Amino acid sequence: MAQVTMDKLVSLCKRRGFIFQSSEIYGGLNGAYDYGPLGVELKNNIRDFWWKEMTQLHDDIVGLDASILMHSRVWEASGHVSNFTDPMVDCKVCKARFRADQIDLNAPCPNCGNKGTFTEPRNFNLMFATHIGPDADSASTIYLRPETAQGIYVNFKNVVQSSRVKVPFGIAQVGKSFRNEITTKNFIFRSCEFEQMEMQFFCKPGTDEQWFPYWREQRMAFYGKMGIRLDCLRWHQHGPDELAFYAKDAYDIQYLFPMGWQELEGVHSRTDYDLTQHQKFSGKDMTYLDPETNERYIPYVVETSAGLTRNVLMALSDAYDEEPTPEGDTRTVLHFHPLIAPIMVAVLPLVKKDGIGEYAEKLEHELREDFTTFFDQSGAIGRRYRRMDEIGTPYCVTVDYDTLKDNTVTLRMRDSMQQIRIPVDQIVSEIHKASKTYKRS
Ligand code: GAP
Repeated sequence: MAQVTMDKLVSLCKRRGFIFQSSEIYGGLNGAYDYGPLGVELKNNIRDFWWKEMTQLHDDIVGLDASILMHSRVWEASGHVSNFTDPMVDCKVCKARFRADQIDLNAPCPNCGNKGTFTEPRNFNLMFATHIGPDADSASTIYLRPETAQGIYVNFKNVVQSSRVKVPFGIAQVGKSFRNEITTKNFIFRSCEFEQMEMQFFCKPGTDEQWFPYWREQRMAFYGKMGIRLDCLRWHQHGPDELAFYAKDAYDIQYLFPMGWQELEGVHSRTDYDLTQHQKFSGKDMTYLDPETNERYIPYVVETSAGLTRNVLMALSDAYDEEPTPEGDTRTVLHFHPLIAPIMVAVLPLVKKDGIGEYAEKLEHELREDFTTFFDQSGAIGRRYRRMDEIGTPYCVTVDYDTLKDNTVTLRMRDSMQQIRIPVDQIVSEIHKASKTYKRS
């Protein structure tokens, strides 16, 4: 395995159209990114895989898509207005701002090198405030949501009353969140606009003791199914100083990113804190009546909270490799699991002439019914394979003179570079079979 650096990932992402800096032609906007043609496919594939695993393949989990803008009382109830802060210091000389817990306050300013120039730490709220309606007064202040979770809690009763769900059940949601992060280095790892994939599992108080380990196990298994190297994932249990005051227990799944071990997802045992707070602030009853036992209670919550955009960075870091080839050079390859690869199959005519180009183009159109495809007929075939390796396309189908005679094609596997000759009408089943049994080599 070649050591992947953030610089290499950033450069590959820009060069091949995965991720661009936001508003680049205006000098860029810190903490915001645009997903290009391949990046959006990768992100959507991870999102769809999560959605399928969490809703379709699990009993009693339903979906939701709550709005980004919510009543400002939501964020008072959740504690975000008063507590969602980072301690910040400013350098009095160069005006640069830093997180007080991330620098040595006795050392010189990392920006200008002056010593003893920091202000006292001040708490800085991470929520973006804006105004709704024509008057920009304090009464109209609302926030861009800093997490999707609250949209789920405030809809708890709506879902119970409108669906046939019974506790225990979960509500899953994917969507944008916003935080005014000051430290936005490390590419898309920590950005101001990002996406989360969250699931809140509502259960009877006391049964959270069983559901919490169940969901930890499920969430780690998810990454194995996504093809992520398990030795690059580990658990980190929150110590007493990290644990939110209402949380009973919390674990992070960490991934070994190019800059070291960092949080990828949190699995939190949140008790009845959130629903109780919303009951208190809204004056609305948030209790659940158990139809079997007639007991009434506020359910406990086990939350699984993953960053979708952070998952994209993890998938790219995990897949990246530079490998020696039999020809004596090096290839850059992204070993994406076929489940998440932006392009599943590339169709490559060996030459354009003698009807081979037309045959290949027709074949590529047919394969679109089953896969995301790509057609490329420019350049030497070896170079075209390399281009597909670099964007993580697991399968290439090559059409040549023999194809015109006997309707067979070459199917090339990205990881092993192995090539097999198969009848053209077996491509779909061969690719499905190879994808189902895929193991990274
Ligand atoms: N509802 C719980 C919650 O939001 P969190 O630990 O603050 O918990 C959950 O965030 C996940 O969201 C993180 O593990 C991370 O993957 C992602 N995330 C949080 N802040 C982020 C940011 N600024 N940029 C990208 N992803 C972020």
